[in-house]
Amino acid sequence: MTKQGTKQTDVEERKRAHEEQQRRLKARTSKIKHKIAVISGKGGVGKSTVTVNLAMAFALHGHANDIGILDADITGPCVPKIIGLHGQSLQAGPPGLFPATGPMGIKVVSMDFLLPSEETPVIWRGPLKMRAISQFLSDIVWGDLDFLFIDLPPGTGDEPLSIMQLIPEMDGVVIVTIPSEVSQIVVKKAVTFSRKLNIPVIGIIENMSGFVCPKCGAEINIFKTGGGEKIAKDLMTPFLGKIPIDPQICEDSDNGVPFIIEHKDSPASKAFMEIVKKVEAFLEAEKKSNAEMEGK
Ligand SMILES: Nc1ncnc2c1ncn2[C@@H]1O[C@H](COP(=O)(O)OP(=O)(O)OP(=O)(O)O)[C@@H](O)[C@H]1O
Ligand SMILES: [Mg+2]
Repeated sequence: MTKQGTKQTDVEERKRAHEEQQRRLKARTSKIKHKIAVISGKGGVGKSTVTVNLAMAFALHGHANDIGILDADITGPCVPKIIGLHGQSLQAGPPGLFPATGPMGIKVVSMDFLLPSEETPVIWRGPLKMRAISQFLSDIVWGDLDFLFIDLPPGTGDEPLSIMQLIPEMDGVVIVTIPSEVSQIVVKKAVTFSRKLNIPVIGIIENMSGFVCPKCGAEINIFKTGGGEKIAKDLMTPFLGKIPIDPQICEDSDNGVPFIIEHKDSPASKAFMEIVKKVEAFLEAEKKSNAEMEGK
């Protein structure tokens, strides 16, 4: 065979392998009713905290044992730590890799489970990294789930984009922001990101929105308040709610204790439960409009 012929065969083989992986990924996730990605324009706004507590809020709202979380933050996976599964590993069986199980039967898959120690950084680069992630995801046996929440890497760069493209038939994205103006600018980027991918924006959550002093009861707006609602209006996207700053969230996350289960009556937990209802309403409206479109 000529040199060019060999090259051509290589390309074809790689294309076939990629298609086969995509087919497997689709089959693996076909029994998941809804897939929702949690994104943010920038890091540190509480995306992973929101992903885990929102997933638990859904579990509490009649979906126990039917929720999954994919921690797709490759370089800084922290969902297992927040949900109390750090140090676990994925069980392998003949059909593939089984997720770890957390509180309320939540199934969790994270890159953290593949790392031999806490100090091991993930240093895969570029195309090799995406190929490894795609291979990894196509081996996961999720089974039947009502919801899968995907915690994407921070920002709107190549990495979250590539991961979003790997996951078939996403219902929509939830954007997490803090109320300050600097954060609002990047929310626009997150909205553009989803529109570019043709994935609906379910809505915006304003996290770290105000703080009530436990000693004197005074309300202090550390990162201001209302920015999330304002940007949602400006961008004509739904606003899902405000989660206040609660030091207990941080404390529980560090200890791997499910905040929303341990502190059901806190304002932050109640806010999460309200968000669940809004997300459900969004999905219901989408279902109706899709049925109407199909009927036409
Ligand atoms: N509403 C809140 N009240 C108090 N602490 C919070 C709140 N939301 C998040 N935190 C804390 O803020 C820190 C950052 O949160 P988190 O790790 O969820 O952010 P992230 O957006 O996922 O970060 P990254 O961009 O690194 O992935 C954590 O210590 C978390 O416990
Ligand atoms: Mg995170």
